[in-house]
Amino acid sequence: MNQSSSSRPVRPRRSVLYLPASNSRALEKLPGLSCDSAVFDLEDSIAPGAKADARENLRRFFTNGRADALPAGMETVIRINSLSSPWGGEDLLAARGCKPDAILIPKVEAPEDIAAVEDALEQTDAPPSLRLWAMIETPRGVMNAGQIARSARSDGARLDCFITGTNDLIKETGVAALPGRPWLSSWLMQIVLAARAYGLDVLDGVYNDFKDEAGLIRECSEGQAMGFDGKTLIHPAQIGPANTAFGISPERLADARAIADAFAIPDNQGRGVISLDGKMVERLHLEIAERLIEKAALISARHGGDQTR
Ligand code: COA
Ligand code: MG
Repeated sequence: MNQSSSSRPVRPRRSVLYLPASNSRALEKLPGLSCDSAVFDLEDSIAPGAKADARENLRRFFTNGRADALPAGMETVIRINSLSSPWGGEDLLAARGCKPDAILIPKVEAPEDIAAVEDALEQTDAPPSLRLWAMIETPRGVMNAGQIARSARSDGARLDCFITGTNDLIKETGVAALPGRPWLSSWLMQIVLAARAYGLDVLDGVYNDFKDEAGLIRECSEGQAMGFDGKTLIHPAQIGPANTAFGISPERLADARAIADAFAIPDNQGRGVISLDGKMVERLHLEIAERLIEKAALISARHGGDQTR
């Protein structure tokens, strides 16, 4: 079975904001933010001695109705600690109880890491709508990205999205963190390719210097050109630039509509290839255009006509 990019469900994931689960002020701010997804973090941003309190804070957020006040369509994701850590088991149970849209597994290195979480969720009768996301952020994770992504094909699989963990990759490999990411790019592209081979979404790593807007804009545009669906973020100020870079400009939307309209003309309906404004347009371009129009409609349903919000 070919599960190409065109068979993936369309879901805007332009801006995916991490919030330390312990940071009540950040949690309070979330309903007013326009990120497409929020990742409540129990892992790297929480010190070992603060894990239990952070878990409790998160549980309160999800059970006292505050999560229900989030804007419709904002996806909720909880990042747990690895099941092999002292906190992973309790994190998973707490996350399951919070009923987020997805659980994010850190430092995934093999398909078994996904299977272990899937098995544990089955024991709790988790609904199929609860998805799994995986961080690819270690040398072995990158080397095995294809096999890991392939597990999305098994029956009842929950795997939906990869996140590239660039800070961990830099730490584990010792490559220099330079603008343009010359030493990271080939690994990032490997992760993008693995995700696409098995119909997963894939998100770019974070930009640590949250006061450097120009640098963020540059990196977002680079990530968009590399094929990422969106960027993971650490600060509210980063949401606007990510929504713009990974959003759909009026010009792109107009081009997509022109392609859809051209193929809808009765004479063109049976054709595989047509000429439009002096350019060759094939049915594969129609598929791209239709996905883009669908994504734009989802974004506008949430944010009104403004595709950058
Ligand atoms: N989500 C929601 N709100 C956030 C936020 C986030 N990720 N980061 C900061 N804010 C809020 C702050 O609480 C503050 O709110 P206030 O004005 O009501 O006090 C406001 O935005 C401005 O924050 P600022 O003072 O500029 O930053 P800070 O010094 O409070 O925090 C960081 C800087 C980097 C510590 C913080 O942004 C952060 O923790 N980011 C997420 C880190 C993370 O999750 N890492 C793991 C994945 S890499
Ligand atoms: Mg990490």
